[in-house]
Order: sequence, then C-alpha cells, then structure tokens
Amino acid sequence: MKLVIGNDHAAVDMKNEIKQYLEEKGIEIVDVGTNSTDSFNYPVSGYRVGKMVAEGKVDGGIAICGTGVGISLACNKVDGVRACCCSEPYSAEMSKRHNNANVVCFGARVIGIETAKQIVDAWINAKFEGGRHENRVNMIMEIQDTQQLRAAEEA
Ligand code: RB5
Repeated sequence: MKLVIGNDHAAVDMKNEIKQYLEEKGIEIVDVGTNSTDSFNYPVSGYRVGKMVAEGKVDGGIAICGTGVGISLACNKVDGVRACCCSEPYSAEMSKRHNNANVVCFGARVIGIETAKQIVDAWINAKFEGGRHENRVNMIMEIQDTQQLRAAEEA
C-alpha cells in the first residue's frame, strides 16, 4: 500500500509520528507536507494530497492541520476526492465503508497521537461496502461533475 500524507505547520510532529507508525507497518508514504513550524498555508498540502489521490498515484491520502477542517476543505476541492475530517475512529471506519472516503483528515490541535493512530488504522482497514452506498456516493460525484443532482430535482 502507498499513501500520501500532507500537513501544515500545526501538524508537523503528528505527521511525522503517523508517517513513522505507518512505515513500520510496511506502508509506503509520500510526504507532501511541510517539516517547518513556520506558518504554512494548509491549502497547499491539501491540494497536493488531493491531486495525488485523484490521479491514482497512491491508494489514499492522510491530511492533517490544526483542526483538520481547512485541509479537508482544500482536499475536497480536487475533483474525485472524498476527504473526511474525523476526531474518532468510528467515523473514520464508516467514511470508508459507506462513503468510500479516499482521504482521511484530522486535527493535531484537536486529538492526541493515539486517537490519530486509531483513526488511521480504522480507515485503512475498512472496505467500501458498495451496494446502496455506491448509489449515494455516485450522487455526490454527480453534484461535483454537473453541479446538479437529478434525484433532488425529481423528488
Ligand atoms: C493554522 O493556524 C490553522 O488555521 C490550520 O492549521 C487549520 O486548523 C485550518 O483549518
């Protein structure tokens, strides 16, 4: 498995701990974030993570900023990305099982490193269930691709 990881200045330590944690499990990590605690604009890392995921260069992405919110918003602006911001592992697991999230995000100022590891594990180990969830994910992508949703207009 190969994952991309990105971060801003608020999440340098957490990024490096997660990176090491995953590399020790044999997961290849591409680091597109900053290693400086000087102010760094989170959209830059969010864009880089999203782009690599959308282009299929990696199996998924992890994006960390202070809250996880800004970087998840940036990731989600790249077509094809479904990034979720999670503060606990249940949502992270379900984001893959039901929403086929291809990027998981969290906040280094919000959660501790052990919760971050649990979130990453839950997301990596979960599998998309397809079926009725596939139809709903397709609707999300229809909104992205057309700025319309037939199901909403027909309802
Ligand atoms: C940086 O101060 C902070 O705004 C950023 O890390 C993140 O929390 C944004 O959503």
